[in-house]
Amino acid sequence: MEDLTKLYTESMDVLGGKIDFVLHSIGMSVNIRKNIPYTELNYDFYNKGIDVSALSFHKMLATAYKLDALNEHASVVALSYIAAQQAYPFYTDMADIKAMLESIARTFGYHYGKHKKVRINTVSQSPTKTTAGSGIKGFSEFYDFAEAQSPLGNASADDCANFCVSLFSDLTKMITMQNLYHDGGYSTTGVSQEQLNMISK
Ligand SMILES: NC(=O)c1ccc[n+]([C@@H]2O[C@H](COP(=O)([O-])OP(=O)(O)OC[C@H]3O[C@@H](n4cnc5c(N)ncnc54)[C@H](O)[C@@H]3O)[C@@H](O)[C@H]2O)c1
Repeated sequence: MEDLTKLYTESMDVLGGKIDFVLHSIGMSVNIRKNIPYTELNYDFYNKGIDVSALSFHKMLATAYKLDALNEHASVVALSYIAAQQAYPFYTDMADIKAMLESIARTFGYHYGKHKKVRINTVSQSPTKTTAGSGIKGFSEFYDFAEAQSPLGNASADDCANFCVSLFSDLTKMITMQNLYHDGGYSTTGVSQEQLNMISK
């Protein structure tokens, strides 16, 4: 919490005023790193994952709220994944943790919206080849599977950044407390012809 307070106060000094937008982009599961299956989770690791990947979002928001660090109509975005809504066995405890992250966006979004018209959303991103993404067992195969399912293909990291910028802009100022899929159509496609072709080979 001390680090967060310092981050906001020093940022406001450097930027010469309150903050317009914040991105939460932290995710880490020790259980995933150690290849521990969901049915055998280590609870110390589970708690660590919750703290780093979900409570950090609440702490980030609560610190800004207390310091009154955000401007009216500021926009806050956190990055999530569809395993919060559907079962993805390889995502183990991060599935539960992302569900919590999305819930914090809704509940804090209510309070911060009432308080200062600050809006809070999560972006549910396609599988993306990053350090965290590639650390998941079977990621490469799943990346290809998702690519085959999505009519537009997987959304890249640059596409994700562009979408976040749009959420930080005033053009989206009435969107809050939402989980927004940024996935090339993956989440609403049941099955694609490409996937059926893969199986019939
Ligand atoms: N890569 C994907 O396929 C994918 C898909 C959907 C959502 N996301 C989400 O995107 C966000 C960013 O992840 P990424 O894929 O860019 O991977 P990444 O590895 O590039 O980023 C993860 C970040 O978390 C930070 N981090 C990890 N443990 C920390 C700790 N204890 N304290 C402070 N920071 C810590 C790391 O320093 C790193 O900057 C995460 O929330 C992730 O769950 C990723």
